[in-house]
Amino acid sequence: MSKQELELVFPSRDMEKQIILYKKEHFDYGDMQVHGTGGLAFFDSYEEWLNHINTIRNLNPKTGVQTSTFFSKRISDGKLIGCIKIHHSLTDELKNGGHIAYGIRPSERKKGYGIAQLELCLEFAKQIPLKQVVVACDKDNIASASTAKSCGGVLANEFEEDGVIKQHYVFNFM
Ligand SMILES: CC(C)(COP(=O)(O)OP(=O)(O)OC[C@H]1O[C@@H](n2cnc3c(N)ncnc32)[C@H](O)[C@@H]1OP(=O)(O)O)[C@@H](O)C(=O)NCCC(=O)NCCS
Repeated sequence: MSKQELELVFPSRDMEKQIILYKKEHFDYGDMQVHGTGGLAFFDSYEEWLNHINTIRNLNPKTGVQTSTFFSKRISDGKLIGCIKIHHSLTDELKNGGHIAYGIRPSERKKGYGIAQLELCLEFAKQIPLKQVVVACDKDNIASASTAKSCGGVLANEFEEDGVIKQHYVFNFM
């Protein structure tokens, strides 16, 4: 598995069917969140979610920050494999959550796509350009921490939030 097998795409109107199925797969699996999607799980209307994603890509009025949300699409068959979002900057409020949040659809986990997707997003981060990216994860989320570490993230901080131990993995670009 290599990052050449995936491409990052912005969600669009014509992806509605695929994205609804992506969301349904999470619910069927018992995941009530659809990680990295900017709250797809909490929107009943695709149109409203898409408007939200497109708005925050320019500027999120609540945070004052630009946030880009991508699906990673498998180039060979067009299947949506994962979703990843990146804040273009951090505020005090966003600091603990880090720049990037990600998920891979349940049926495609443990195949190397999590690493490939994060690598592609880190390339995007360099283009923004960001000099440093922080990925936050729960300490007991071994899959997420391993993904960050395997992409070159360095454990920089451990802290408690709402009774949960969280970690920050840092990527420095020179
Ligand atoms: C975290 C997540 C994106 C990883 O995606 P993935 O495609 O399964 O990951 P990969 O196959 O690329 O594997 C990445 C690393 O995680 C490890 N890993 C993956 N799933 C694992 C699991 N269930 N338990 C332990 N390690 C796991 C792999 O062995 C690999 O480690 P290595 O590079 O040291 O060998 C995926 O598990 C997911 O969507 N989880 C739910 C959402 C989530 O937790 N998001 C992160 C919030 S911060």
